[in-house]
Amino acid sequence: MSNLNTQLDRAQLDAEKMHPREPRQQGAIPMWVADMDFPAAEPIRASLLKRMEQPSYGYTGKTARYYDAVTDWMKRRHQWDTKAEWITTTPGVVTAMGFAVRAVISPGEKVVYQPPVYPPFKRMIEQNGGIAVPSPIKLVDGQFQMDFDDLEAQLRDPEVKLFFLCNPHNPVGRVWTREELAKIGELCLKHQVKIFSDDIHHDIVLSGSTYTPIASLSPDISGITITATSPSKTFSIPGFKMGNIFIENKALRQAFRSVVESTGVSDIDIGAIEATIAAYNEGETWFNEVLQYIEANNALVDQFIADKLPQLTTFPLEGTYLKWIDCRALGLNGKELEGFMLEQANIWFSEGYTFGEEGAGFERMNLGTQRSNVEETLARLERALQARG
Ligand SMILES: Cc1ncc(COP(=O)(O)O)c(C=O)c1O
Repeated sequence: MSNLNTQLDRAQLDAEKMHPREPRQQGAIPMWVADMDFPAAEPIRASLLKRMEQPSYGYTGKTARYYDAVTDWMKRRHQWDTKAEWITTTPGVVTAMGFAVRAVISPGEKVVYQPPVYPPFKRMIEQNGGIAVPSPIKLVDGQFQMDFDDLEAQLRDPEVKLFFLCNPHNPVGRVWTREELAKIGELCLKHQVKIFSDDIHHDIVLSGSTYTPIASLSPDISGITITATSPSKTFSIPGFKMGNIFIENKALRQAFRSVVESTGVSDIDIGAIEATIAAYNEGETWFNEVLQYIEANNALVDQFIADKLPQLTTFPLEGTYLKWIDCRALGLNGKELEGFMLEQANIWFSEGYTFGEEGAGFERMNLGTQRSNVEETLARLERALQARG
């Protein structure tokens, strides 16, 4: 068994999540950024130490050792056959979003995305010359769903050249089904729109759901798709900057690579290379334990809220370790809810309104943390809600 209950002193280690950006966050329990608190898998630590012991830190390339580790993982874990030549590495998935926008659209063209969603989606579209067109996710009978009628209405616009998919979806926690993905593929093919699929959370899939890479559905869909993955979320190693971007279509891959090259940040460093290889080749046992731990955290939150906090609503978590909590019954707007959580409950969540106006009234809670932190958060919530009456 791994030491998942061990609390590292992350403030001493300069962890981003531990450092308040404003006075109200001081002393509030940090349950915000998608960053696990677990000590990383021992084989990753051992492999990094072994490599760093060699005082040779010159330019380092990716060899078959690297590509085999990545493609074997995709095959073993997700039954997706990929080839080394499809992969371009980038120092992260957000970086790849910007590269994809520049590779696919001309300035002033449109990109459709689905809020509420990870804030850099909109930002990277706009900061790279695109017009971000929302097609919001809807809550239908207690489940978040895509609105395919609205989506098609947006994709039909000839100025729309790219669609940003998030699978699994941060923050609503859906793992899109084959049927939903096939429908997206069909619409994008029909309207000649390319797909950027941010699959960074693809391994974090809870029991009952199955992750499908949209590119695996058919050669035609693969031909229009850029799939962004990384071992960073899965293995709690996002401090290394890494991303594996899969593009089967050669022309699309060349377009993407020429943008990457134009920025001068075309490769990842020794630490990212070694950590990726160790994670994919030797980290699976650790990850399976983490997944069970997250599943138990999720069950605890659902049960506690159902039993004791009737003002709040949760949804079945299919993927990601991020719990999307509906607090709208409290009758507070986004900023008021933020104030309540920071000042009354002393909890630092990711604020729903930062994911787009559709997220106002929601909070996003990180479940990739020790059980004691989840329990403490729930206790603080209960006290603050009781005091509110
Ligand atoms: C959906 C999604 N994409 C990308 C990222 C960040 O990716 P990176 O650190 O590789 O840029 C996150 C981090 O929370 C995320 O949730």
